[in-house]
Amino acid sequence: HKLNFSVISASKGGYSHFMLKEIHESPLAVKETISTMLSDEAVVEASRIISNANRVFVVAAGTSYHAGLFFTRYLNLSSLTAIPVIASEYSSYKAKSGDVVLALSQSGETLDVKMAIKKFRNDGASIISITNVIESTISRESDVKLYMRAGPELGVAATKTFVSQVASLMILKSRVLNEDTSYLAKAPQILEDAVEETEGKMKRWSTLIDFPSVYYLSKGIGVPLAMEGALKIKEVAYVHAEAYPAGESKHGPIALVSEGFPVIFVNPGLDELKVNMEEMKSRGAKIFSISTVNTNLTDNEVIVKSERDLEPFALSPPLQLLAFYVSVNKGIDPDRPRNLAKTVTVE
Ligand code: G6P
Repeated sequence: HKLNFSVISASKGGYSHFMLKEIHESPLAVKETISTMLSDEAVVEASRIISNANRVFVVAAGTSYHAGLFFTRYLNLSSLTAIPVIASEYSSYKAKSGDVVLALSQSGETLDVKMAIKKFRNDGASIISITNVIESTISRESDVKLYMRAGPELGVAATKTFVSQVASLMILKSRVLNEDTSYLAKAPQILEDAVEETEGKMKRWSTLIDFPSVYYLSKGIGVPLAMEGALKIKEVAYVHAEAYPAGESKHGPIALVSEGFPVIFVNPGLDELKVNMEEMKSRGAKIFSISTVNTNLTDNEVIVKSERDLEPFALSPPLQLLAFYVSVNKGIDPDRPRNLAKTVTVE
């Protein structure tokens, strides 16, 4: 046993937890992913298939589903049609010949994703996958296999693999839409700065999240990030959290907001969000802002440096770090949250 413990702590490389280590490894994971994918012939093949597709079903579970929402958003802004599918809900959809499935799975072993692939293949769709494990089951069951290169992730909560998935999807959509990919070169640096510049503040904020429930609000490209932020704090810190497009929050969710209710705004540089911040503030909410621009509407604001379209890399680290520190403050082990498994191979 003694040997095991020392092996485990050595593999944490000086960090208290795998989750924290892996957040810090994000810049390298994304760098490796970008350089590998940019020279991968299979990416060219995948983008050719997607460009000619009737519809693209982006199929995934959990954090991978949130990464997939970036891809569907970008494709839907073009003339292509992309549909995000929560893997376990595959039976609510029917594909046909000419449709393409893009399956996203860090492990490449999630049963819901495997079952969805099987069903959509029977419907006549072709299958492209992005996983983090060479020759994983899902890769083997795909017509075109793509890989991110995040390296092994041991914390149950996906962190560096989320941003690596987002990077792979940005490369893929740029290839599909014939766009330049040079803007992505800055992603690792943006991630590194975001980790460095927000960790202290997230540690302090973690003591201010003292409500049983939290909202994460955003707009546009920030919505999947808000969803991922809410999932992370649920998973590792057992805080009830919900994410909404900020505009939608007035259609119901705002009824719960009373004095001190924490609302975290995830702001990818959108002035429009200020109205929603004011609105929440006037109901007594305790406003937090993770933003690429200064809003001057709350003392609890952290500004992260970004560039256009690279906002997910600036905004993800503080969201992950906040969940991590709330977890640790509550005496929870964020690497092994109750009831969760890294890879879910059951229905
Ligand atoms: C489990 C994990 C999540 C993960 C999801 C999908 O629920 O706890 O962190 O996002 O599976 O996993 P995958 O390996 O398919 O990306």
